[in-house]
Amino acid sequence: MKKIIIMLVGLVGSVNAFAQEASTKTFWDDPFTHPDLPLFVVSAFVFIVLLLVIITSLILLRAFNTLVEQTERERAKAQGIVYTPKPSFFSKISQKLNDSVPLEKEKDIDMGHDFDGIRELDNHLPPWWKWLFYGTIGWSAVYIFLFHFSGSLPLMQEEYEEEVAIAEAAKKAFQASQPQAVIDLEKLVFTQDAEIIARGRTVFAGNNCGSCHRADGGGNTIGPNLTDEYWIHGGDVKKVFATIKDGFVEKGMPAWGKALSPTEVRDVTFFVMSLQGSNPPNAKAPQGELFKMDVPKADTVKAQASL
Ligand code: HEC
Repeated sequence: MKKIIIMLVGLVGSVNAFAQEASTKTFWDDPFTHPDLPLFVVSAFVFIVLLLVIITSLILLRAFNTLVEQTERERAKAQGIVYTPKPSFFSKISQKLNDSVPLEKEKDIDMGHDFDGIRELDNHLPPWWKWLFYGTIGWSAVYIFLFHFSGSLPLMQEEYEEEVAIAEAAKKAFQASQPQAVIDLEKLVFTQDAEIIARGRTVFAGNNCGSCHRADGGGNTIGPNLTDEYWIHGGDVKKVFATIKDGFVEKGMPAWGKALSPTEVRDVTFFVMSLQGSNPPNAKAPQGELFKMDVPKADTVKAQASL
């Protein structure tokens, strides 16, 4: 029995832990691989068996009582006495809880109001209701003391702030575990780094940029040609990076800094710049001002890949 209690307490404890700590892993995060799973399954099983045992005993008890009543009724008949059945345990309890006036005494509490045969009785409140009400009054005193005077339990506002603090801490821990490369725009130099450009190509592909600038960067009715030497917003690496990061939303160029990481923006910037002079067929007519890019030839200079 002691063991079962320990198990049940453990179960309740795990539920509590689940409610309190959002940041650490609990039983409910991954119940199937949790080491305590067999323990919980066994205790749930024991609980169900206990419940079944109690229900069956109650049913058996009722059957037994009926038998006893029957024999007593027969005995009374044989002795010629009038048999008055003893009230059962449950009917005694129910009478205590409800304290209802028996049918034959109803006329004592009849208030004399008769509405189409529906009479009004002066019943008092059932004791179970009254005690529940007194209980809430008692509880309110306990509540006020615990929450407002002793301060041993947190109020809703405090609970909220506590949870926000836990979430903030979790967020900080997550951010710390995933350091984001910060691109220092001042030091950014374009190089033909094949690795970076290849990554930039994947960022550019598909719906990200190709839908507005054409898959080969030649431009379409929406976006300008990115392969020529004419730039609306400037063609040096800092300006191209800034254009892609902050966009010109009112002109139809989204701010990609919101959707892409700084590294991805750098990668796609390098890819766009690597398109210079690729001369795709049927490219869009040049827009903006001429900017001659000073492009280092080979990928000997390892660009700020480490940044
Ligand atoms: C919804 C359409 C759209 C998408 C998607 C889009 N662009 Fe643009 N982009 C534009 C438009 C329109 C302009 C021209 C803005 C202007 O006229 O000021 C532009 C301008 C640019 C410029 C400046 C060109 C210049 O001449 O100065 C660059 C660089 C650029 N986009 C790169 C990208 C990259 C890289 C992506 C993907 C990460 C991308 N764009 C996705 C519509 C788009």
